[in-house]
Parts: sequence; C-alpha cells; structure tokens
Amino acid sequence: MYNLFEGALKPLKEKFDVDIITHRPSDKELRQYLRDYDGIISLLSYKFTEDMFDENVRVKIISNYAVGYDNIPIDKCKEKGIVVCNTPDVLTRATAELSFALLISVARRFHEGEELVRSGVWEGWKPDLLLGYELLNMKIGIIGAGRIGTEMMRLCKAFGMDVYYYSRNRKKEADRIGKYMELDDLLKEMDAVSLHLSLMKETYHLLNREKLMLMKKGSVLINTSRGDIIDETALIELLKNGHFHGAGLDVFHNEPDVNEELRKLDNVVLLPHIGSATYKTRYKMAEIAVNAVINFFEGKEIPNRVV
Ligand code: DGY
Repeated sequence: MYNLFEGALKPLKEKFDVDIITHRPSDKELRQYLRDYDGIISLLSYKFTEDMFDENVRVKIISNYAVGYDNIPIDKCKEKGIVVCNTPDVLTRATAELSFALLISVARRFHEGEELVRSGVWEGWKPDLLLGYELLNMKIGIIGAGRIGTEMMRLCKAFGMDVYYYSRNRKKEADRIGKYMELDDLLKEMDAVSLHLSLMKETYHLLNREKLMLMKKGSVLINTSRGDIIDETALIELLKNGHFHGAGLDVFHNEPDVNEELRKLDNVVLLPHIGSATYKTRYKMAEIAVNAVINFFEGKEIPNRVV
C-alpha cells in the first residue's frame, strides 16, 4: 500500500503486517503484489489489468483510494471473488469546488493574467486586457448528476448561473436545482459544460469530435472526472482553432504524461488531478480505505463495496 497519513494507517498497522510502497509500481510489480498480498490499498494511478489476475493471485480485497475505480478490472475481480471498494462521499465537496474554481479561472483567464504578471512584461491597466465572461446568467450544463455533479450544480446555482444537466436517468435532486436536457441539445446550447462521470465503456470518448463540435463557439469545457471521457486529440484541435473560449482540465489521457501540444496552449488551465486534494478529504479517504480492509478481514460489512 501507498504511504497514506500516519494516523489513518495506525489501526491497520496494529492489526496486520503492512508494507508501504513509496514509488510508482511497474506492471510487473503490480502483478507481483496481487500474488504476494491478501489485501491492497491502491491508488487510482495503479492500473490493474485483467491479465494480471491469473491463477496465482492471492489478493482478496482491493481498497481503492478514490471514488473512481476504472483502474481496476471490476468484472474480473467479481469472477475471482475479489472484493473491491472505493471512497465515495467524502470527496464530493472538494471535487465540486475544484471544478467550480476551474470554471471561473477559465472564464476570467486567471492563468493568462498570472503568467503576464509573473513574466514581468505587463504594461499596466488597459480597457481590453484579458477580457472574459461573467458567470451571472451564464448557461452551464452539467453532464453526470451523481454526487459531485449535483454539488457542482448547487455551486453554480448559488453564483446565479442558469443550470442544466444531462444524466442517463433523471435525478430528483438535480431536477430541483436545474433543468434536464438531452445530451446533444445541452452541448449545443450551453455557454459552459462540466463533466462529472465515471469512466466506463459507455462513457469512453463520450465527448468525441462530433460531440465537441456541437458545443457552442466560445464556450468553456471543464473536466475533473477522467481524461478519457473526452477525445483529447479532437479537443486539442478545437482549442487550437478557437472553437472554445477555453478548457479547464484536472484529468488527462495517460496521466501523468500530458500531451505536449495541450501543455503549450494558452486557452487551457491544467491541474495535476487534485480534485479531492484537501487535507480533510484526503485524510478521510485514507480512513475509509483502511477501514474497508480491516472490516473485510474481521468479517464485518463494508459500506463502500463496489463488488
Ligand atoms: C477519485 O477519487 O476518483 C478522484 O479522481 C480523486 O481525485
């Protein structure tokens, strides 16, 4: 397991033999961990693949230190009787706040302003310097009305935005905060779109070139869920040709190797997957991940069990 917070780890260390992994494991090492350990607390950056789960696997529980679990082959774990659990709820507010921060940063071009001041070439106040958009009455479309998407809807509503959402199923709470729209209509009509979906077969490249093209010219796109929900190559092309005012991204295809072309663009704010990175949240996530392992081996119920 990774070196989580000492206090959160204590109960685990008191009951079990615990090895702490402090580097980024290779695929070979991950395969070996599955053979060596009864339980693993995993990070979302540890990509377990189906072929790693052969007949030599010893692991009985993988407790993922994240709400998303696209790094774990769930069907395979189910087939093998391996329990998988995650850390929902405690990161809802932190992730929604970061999504909102990205939205306002892109709309008002914080990153370009910051760069201008830091570079020392700022020539002073000008009427047309770094003009952006106000959030008041801006139409925002939230894609995915789970816990984080719904919290983002609340934040946007509180800032006087016109809030819309799309989700596979209508949601009572989301209907109370905003208005439902079909995906294509939402993409066509919104000034800003924010993604709050889990990555799975059905959502992989949900925003492909065709869908991105539907979005309004001059609109804003925010993604704090998973990079592969967007076709990143198409997004880069559309950012380059000015289709978007800008994008705010906390997640990428193939993290941490972020596409070089994307890194060169001015109209993007890029963050290193820190949606849930507050002291309070990350500590609580650690407690949940640890408790799941303890409960499992003590034969107790695990509330946040995925399979
Ligand atoms: C998660 O938990 O899935 C988030 O992406 C972490 O920030």
